[in-house]
Amino acid sequence: MPSTEPRLRLAPSLLSADFGALGDAIRAAEAGGADAFHLDVMDGHFVPNISFGPALVAAVRARTRLPLDLHLMIEEPLRYAEAFRAAGGDTLVFHIESHSDPEATIREVHRLGAGVGLAIRPDTPFSAVEAFADRVEQILVMSVHPGFSGQKFLPDVLPKVSAARRRLSSLGSAADVSIDGGITPATAGAAAAAGATFFVCGNSVFTGGPVADNLRGLRAAVTEGSARAVL
Ligand code: DX5
Ligand code: ZN
Repeated sequence: MPSTEPRLRLAPSLLSADFGALGDAIRAAEAGGADAFHLDVMDGHFVPNISFGPALVAAVRARTRLPLDLHLMIEEPLRYAEAFRAAGGDTLVFHIESHSDPEATIREVHRLGAGVGLAIRPDTPFSAVEAFADRVEQILVMSVHPGFSGQKFLPDVLPKVSAARRRLSSLGSAADVSIDGGITPATAGAAAAAGATFFVCGNSVFTGGPVADNLRGLRAAVTEGSARAVL
């Protein structure tokens, strides 16, 4: 594959897996070709839902060698960065709308040796994170309102995916543009065509049909979509 081809990665979100059989879900996704796992940490303040903390991340870390992408939907990501890094997070994704200072949080996550992701909610413009684009490994564009899996994809966010991709290209950055929420074989192609390279998929992986088949369908959609990308 020529080096100019973007690396397209599928990251199943464990929020949609059966928490009583997480080990099985991890094995099935890994065997089915997942590239990373996405773990949605929710504190009941930044979002209305509560999910899990570092102890569960550590349990997942013990069961896979794939990268762990931690989506911190919490008010104070800086305060918890060290704990989530110690639990095994490879990328710590925090929200620009959180209470933590972005400069300090980026510095701290890098100091801890993890990649930085910067996330924006559907109603936050790309301009809110543009100034940090040269210092991050990922920009995450949310395509649902954060808090719950299984919501409907919001196509209005796609221009932000393209804006992020263009900005990163102009910087010569290999950072990912991640899309999160409502990604299915029917929506993943449009996200790839807009310039996304990292696809978070929850329900479309863990509900309805074998995990490996679901991942195959998603892989076909992102490959097809990225071939149409005009950036
Ligand atoms: C929503 C989370 C998403 C969610 C994705 O707040 O950030 O990662 O789990 O689930 P699906 O793919 O089902 O929308
Ligand atoms: Zn997420």
